[in-house]
Amino acid sequence: MPMVNPYKPVKAKLKKIVDETPNIKTFTLVLEEQMEFKTGQFVQFTVPEVGEAPFTPSSSPYVKDQMEITIMSAGRVTEAIHSLKEGDTVGIRGPLGKGYPLEEFKGKEVLILGGGVGMAPLRSLLLTLIAQKKDFKRILLLYGAKTPQDIIYKGQFADWRKEGVEIHRSVDNGDEDWKEKVGVVTVLLDDVKLGKEVVIICGPPIMMKFGTLSVLEMGYKPENIYLSMEKNMSCGIGKCGHCALGHYFVCKDGPVFKYSEIKDIEGIWD
Ligand SMILES: Cc1cc2nc3c(=O)[nH]c(=O)nc-3n(C[C@H](O)[C@H](O)[C@H](O)COP(=O)(O)OP(=O)(O)OC[C@H]3O[C@@H](n4cnc5c(N)ncnc54)[C@H](O)[C@@H]3O)c2cc1C
Ligand code: FES
Repeated sequence: MPMVNPYKPVKAKLKKIVDETPNIKTFTLVLEEQMEFKTGQFVQFTVPEVGEAPFTPSSSPYVKDQMEITIMSAGRVTEAIHSLKEGDTVGIRGPLGKGYPLEEFKGKEVLILGGGVGMAPLRSLLLTLIAQKKDFKRILLLYGAKTPQDIIYKGQFADWRKEGVEIHRSVDNGDEDWKEKVGVVTVLLDDVKLGKEVVIICGPPIMMKFGTLSVLEMGYKPENIYLSMEKNMSCGIGKCGHCALGHYFVCKDGPVFKYSEIKDIEGIWD
């Protein structure tokens, strides 16, 4: 892997911007220096004269010549990112943190539970699992969004189904065209017969909390539940303490944690 300075952003050109939903866009970036990452690692995205914010690439780590990042507009930096145009130059610092421990998933049934823009890191994971699908017993994706319009990667689910991924989707509020499930994403757990081996959860804090409680109740073991934790970040490399989660730093020790590692830490869902 090429040596990249984690303090120094690499210049990146915005090649393509896709509107996923009214407030989520996917940005395709071409970096001046290649940055290899493991699925689940994150980068700091710098907008010149505005600031930086952390995001997990949503593309496959096997695609080396470009990187995709899917971003929801949530505040100052993300609003600035959403106002960027194709051809603009930004900075990318990383890769940071630890990726998903794929070795621990091998030979097992892998359940992915995603909510809203939490599908972004999970898409990178899913593409990685698909690339080595013979290594996994079964791959399932349960994905929920607020409304059909809020579903990201709308055109891609059919491709993933063709690859053998079992997919179930729900929306909190449907419309007359929505033929799939209505309800919070955890209702989908009732629709599938599961071996309860490995589950990976990513979404808004409330969804992470109720998703975890639901799978625990079903019989998943705390050490087989993998959660993507989000905390405010600054340095991204374990130096400043901004992202403390108990005795862990999310940037360095995470962002992916086993539930068994963090379950006794106060306020993990805040
Ligand atoms: C490892 C990691 C990976 C991530 N990956 C993605 C991704 O792939 N896609 C994605 O869309 N997002 C992702 N995020 C979330 C993303 O980093 C944030 O949405 C972004 O940093 C928001 O920055 P901002 O300046 O736009 O918003 P801010 O201006 O910081 O505001 C964001 C929201 O937080 C609130 N807020 C701000 N400061 C505080 C505070 N001190 N206390 C409480 N609330 C506050 C604001 O009111 C607002 O609702 C990731 C976060 C982490 C840590
Ligand atoms: S962001 Fe500085 S220690 Fe994690």
